[in-house]
Amino acid sequence: MKTTNVTTPMPASIVEGVLKKFQISDLNEATIREIVSIVNDIEEESGEKFIRMEMGVPGLKPSQVGTDAEIEALKKGVASDYPMLEGIKPLKKETSRFVKAFIDLDVSPEGCIPTVGSMQGSYANFLVAGQLDEKKDTILFIDPGFPVQKQQLAVLGYKYESFDVYDYRGKALRAKLESYFSQGHISSVIYSNPNNPTWVCFNEEELQIIGELATKYDVVVFEDLAYFAMDFRKDLSQPFEVPYQASVGKYTDNYVLMISSSKAFSYAGQRTGMVCISDKLYHRFYPNLEKRFGVGKYGQVLVTRILYALSSGTCHSAQYALAAIFKAACDGDYNFLADLEEYKERGHLMKGLFLKYGFELIYDKDMDEPLADGFYFTIRYPGMTGGQLLGELMYYGISAITLGKTGSHQEGLRACVSQTSKERFAELETRLKAFQEHHS
Ligand SMILES: Cc1ncc(COP(=O)(O)O)c(C=O)c1O
Repeated sequence: MKTTNVTTPMPASIVEGVLKKFQISDLNEATIREIVSIVNDIEEESGEKFIRMEMGVPGLKPSQVGTDAEIEALKKGVASDYPMLEGIKPLKKETSRFVKAFIDLDVSPEGCIPTVGSMQGSYANFLVAGQLDEKKDTILFIDPGFPVQKQQLAVLGYKYESFDVYDYRGKALRAKLESYFSQGHISSVIYSNPNNPTWVCFNEEELQIIGELATKYDVVVFEDLAYFAMDFRKDLSQPFEVPYQASVGKYTDNYVLMISSSKAFSYAGQRTGMVCISDKLYHRFYPNLEKRFGVGKYGQVLVTRILYALSSGTCHSAQYALAAIFKAACDGDYNFLADLEEYKERGHLMKGLFLKYGFELIYDKDMDEPLADGFYFTIRYPGMTGGQLLGELMYYGISAITLGKTGSHQEGLRACVSQTSKERFAELETRLKAFQEHHS
């Protein structure tokens, strides 16, 4: 279903030439970075700008509180000192406070450990999880998910299994999860909440199911909070007040939270995130870990063996940035969610435009409740696969990623709002209108 005999915003000859050069027969199989390169090339050759919706990068200015604190720390000379592997004391203390203030969970400062982005947080924890018990050699993804985490498992040579949560929301999640956990080979389970790519948010019932089964089958839960408190249907911005960011930590002690600074504080460039390990798991002794690493406690292995080997700590000055951000947020001096409302507004308007021109939402509800407007949404166009749709949209100067790489079984695309400011909405509308005219 190729766009032919019509004039498109991007010249067809250029789009075809670039797609041919990359030799990707089905765009459903393309990685995010490949799509970025394809779009860059089309932009360069055509001199026209895309509406770029493929990569989940922060589209806002970095947190000022963090930037100021980091500059201050650099001026004091922290750059010449190796940071402690487990993180600087003020950061550990403020993270523990932040977790209490915004999730209402008690995690001791000891278990709050900085990592080089949540990317390193997941890699390091996967590594430990895979060594807990010889029989448990597989990690389970509640998909759709963040494709790079599967790449991390490929690098580690670990096995994983996954299922698309689309058909298993609410009570249906229990039997599905149990069908994996009860086989005895699952060491840990991972999901993001809010979810990348769908923006689905698990409700309390679902988190309770995950938590209860994790305890029953002794599975570690990795709760990836990369989009912390960005379920904009609720006001999660007030410290120490309900409502809180929902978490599995309310329902099990077998958890590790991953709090990235990239999106919530627009601090992606400094590659800092926190892993927060429940007190019980941090101190839990695993004979298998001792056999391999000489020490057997989960937290100790993570810090003194894995993080030491991977990067020997996290950027010193960035830790001061994060400590200041958490402190200001907990003290009520910095409403980090106020800046992020921009994503909600963009999400609302952009979704509206796609719907107006014949697109449909794929993941559209958390049970009965429409999904929040936010960083991502998922779309399809009747009669097209995800790969076909992306290929066609390239001619209209609109990019996204296909759901194929995320573990979703649905045919369609993930659209990210972060790189498109409101000034470009009129152009988006013109392009979508042309797309619909040429495809109906
Ligand atoms: C679900 C999810 N997890 C983890 C990350 C990585 O976070 P970081 O930038 O802290 O490494 C991202 C970034 O897009 C993400 O979407």
